[in-house]
Amino acid sequence: MSDSKTKLSGVSVALHWIVGLTMIVLVTVGVYMTDYKVYALYPIHKSFGMLIFIVVLMRVIWRLKQGWPEAASEYKTWEQSLSRVVHWVLIIATVVMPISGMLMSGLGGYGLHIFGLELLAATPNPDEAGKMIPINGPLAGTSHEVHEIAGKVMFAAFLLHLAGALKHHFIDKDGTLKRMLGKDIS
Ligand code: HEM
Ligand code: HEM
Repeated sequence: MSDSKTKLSGVSVALHWIVGLTMIVLVTVGVYMTDYKVYALYPIHKSFGMLIFIVVLMRVIWRLKQGWPEAASEYKTWEQSLSRVVHWVLIIATVVMPISGMLMSGLGGYGLHIFGLELLAATPNPDEAGKMIPINGPLAGTSHEVHEIAGKVMFAAFLLHLAGALKHHFIDKDGTLKRMLGKDIS
């Protein structure tokens, strides 16, 4: 069940790809729907964002219990430190994104719904169609900014992460990427 130098557990591999790929899709959809004002995508973005939060929490608990996997190959100390920092940024961002999204929507008066299942009712303004009465406007605004900035930070960290994974695979030609694809590299 636990990770080793030559093989990662199925749980680590599954959690990495479920969370990682969902984050990539949610960042892309988030930027697209915001920039082009595609309001039909908002409830889908929010529903998947809240559902993945459950898997994110499972992943964090798993990592806290297991610790980080040992490096698959010997490489320079500064590279190891950089990859550790990037892993921390990525895993923290996966927690900050859903929480800030929920606070922004919930406190903004838009309510919280997972594919129609109401967790928190919206508080529409009876005097202004389409506008909401915020539960806490300033905190909703701050959460909005956190959501936007953390999204950018996560994306930047992801680009470094992807560059590292590709360098390991194509330049160092070691088993780092293969191990994350579930292979035994012994
Ligand atoms: C195409 C996309 C991705 C590829 C090819 C990829 C590849 C990898 C590889 C090869 C490792 C193992 C590194 C090692 O052994 O030191 C790893 C670990 C990790 N990746 Fe990714 N990754 C991707 C996307 C993401 C995304 C989007 C996130 C988070 C938002 C993420 C978060 C992490 C974390 C936190 C680790 C540390 C080990 C763990 O917790 O499982 N990855 N990734
Ligand atoms: C779980 C991972 C999530 C990721 C990676 C993510 C990512 C993003 C990104 C990158 C944006 C574009 C920000 C901008 O450029 O202004 C965005 C917008 C948005 N997200 Fe998320 N999001 C997530 C979860 C959530 C959740 C759980 C909610 C609410 C329940 C939510 C609600 C929103 C809303 C309402 C916007 C549009 C903001 C606007 O109109 O300015 N997100 N998201």
